[in-house]
Amino acid sequence: MTRLQLDMVILNAAELLTLAGASHTPKLGKEMNELGIIEDGGVAIRGNQIVAVDTTKNIKRLVKPGSHPQIIDATNKTVLPGLIDPHAHLAFAGSREREFVQRLQGATYMEILEAGGGINVTVKATHKARRSTLVRLSQQILNRMLEYGTTTVEGKSGYGLDPKHEYKQLLAIRDLNLIHPIDVVPTFMGAHVVPPKYKYCSEEYVKLVMEKMIPTVAKKGLAEFCDVFAEQDVFTIDQARRILNQGKKYGLIPKVHADEMTTLGGAELAAEVGAISADHLLKVSNKGIQALAKAQIVAVLLPATAFVLMEKEYAPARKLIDAGVPIALATDFNPNCMTESMQLVMTLACLNMRMTPAEAISAATINAAHAINRTHIVGSLEPNKQADILVVDAPNHAYIPYHFGVNLVNTVIKSGKIAFSC
Ligand code: NIG
Ligand code: FE
Repeated sequence: MTRLQLDMVILNAAELLTLAGASHTPKLGKEMNELGIIEDGGVAIRGNQIVAVDTTKNIKRLVKPGSHPQIIDATNKTVLPGLIDPHAHLAFAGSREREFVQRLQGATYMEILEAGGGINVTVKATHKARRSTLVRLSQQILNRMLEYGTTTVEGKSGYGLDPKHEYKQLLAIRDLNLIHPIDVVPTFMGAHVVPPKYKYCSEEYVKLVMEKMIPTVAKKGLAEFCDVFAEQDVFTIDQARRILNQGKKYGLIPKVHADEMTTLGGAELAAEVGAISADHLLKVSNKGIQALAKAQIVAVLLPATAFVLMEKEYAPARKLIDAGVPIALATDFNPNCMTESMQLVMTLACLNMRMTPAEAISAATINAAHAINRTHIVGSLEPNKQADILVVDAPNHAYIPYHFGVNLVNTVIKSGKIAFSC
C-alpha cells in the first residue's frame, strides 16, 4: 500500500456519514435513507482535499511513517460533510422584529408586505447602507452559519430592486467570498417584489430587470442563478417565465420561489424552464409534484419559514419524496426568517414534515449541493472533494435532529483547515 504525506486525519468517528455515490444524480426516495455510514471511520486530508475515507484502522495505515498530520479525534462523535444551505437571502441591512410582533397580533406576511412593510422595509435599509456595511453585517451572519456547521451557502440579492443597489448587494457577496471561509454562491433576485413606485406598472419593472439588470449581472459575472418570487400580487407566472428565460439567455440558471402562499403553478413553471430548484412549495399541487418529478427539479424545502409564519401545513415532503422528487433543505435566512441553523431546519423537517433523520441529512448535504450545482466540489465525503467536514457531538446520526435548539458542532473543517472548534 502507498503511504501518504497527509496534513490532517480524522479518526475514531462513531459514525462517519459519507453520503457517497450521489454526486451525479441526487438521492431519491428510499436512497435518502442511505448515508453510506462507516462505523469507527476516519478521513485523510491533504491540502484542501479529501484523499481517503475509510475505517480508522485503514486511515492510520495510510499515514507515511515520520509524517505528522494533525489528528482530530472523533471518539463518540459523528462525522459528516459540511452542511450546505442552498437558499438564503444575504447582504441586506436592518431587521424586522416589529413585524414579528405584528404577526403575533394576527397580521399576515402578505398583509404586511402589501401595506408597504416586509421586504420593502429591508429594501429601504439596504439602500442606505454602504457596500462595506453590507459586508460587515453579512460577515456576522456567516460567522454564525459556520459555527452551526454550514460550509457553503447560496446568497440571494433582492433588497436593492434597482440596478445600483442590486449590484451593490452582489458585489458585497463577492467581497464576502474573498474574506470569509464559507463559500457563498450568488443568485440574482431583482424580481423579489415589485417596488412600490411600479405598483401600477409592474411591466416597467419587469422590463428593467430583463433589459438592464440581467445583462449587466451576467456581463459582470455577479451571479450564477436567477430567482423570481412567483406569487399572487407579486410576479405572475408569465412575468416569472419571461424573467427566467431572459436569465437563461444570459447564462443564469433559473430558480423559483414557487407555490409558497398560493397554488400559482410555480412548480410547473420551474419544470418548464428547466430550473435547478423550486423552493418553498407549501401549496404545490399534485400536478406540480408530477412536473417536478418528471423534470427532476430539486425541491428546496424551507421548514423554518413555515415555522416562523406559523403555518399549519408545511410543504408535503412525504408526498414529494414518494413521487421521486429530489429534496433539499435550506434555512431561507432572511429578515423574516432569522435563523442561521441548518441543525434547527433538520429538526423541523423531521418533526413537521415527517422526514427521517437520514433523509434530513441527505437533504442538507448532497441533495443541497445539487440545488446549487456544487456536487463536483462538496456535499459528500469522497476522495478529491473539498475537505469540508463536520465533527458533531452526536453518537449517531439520528441524534443530530433529536437534540435540538443547541449547537452540536464540535469542529468545522473548511477546505482542509479548522475553521471553528469548541
Ligand atoms: O423566501 N417569499 C419571499 N421571499 C423571502 C422572504 C424575504 C423577506 O421577507 O424579506 C422568502 O421567504
Ligand atoms: Fe427565500
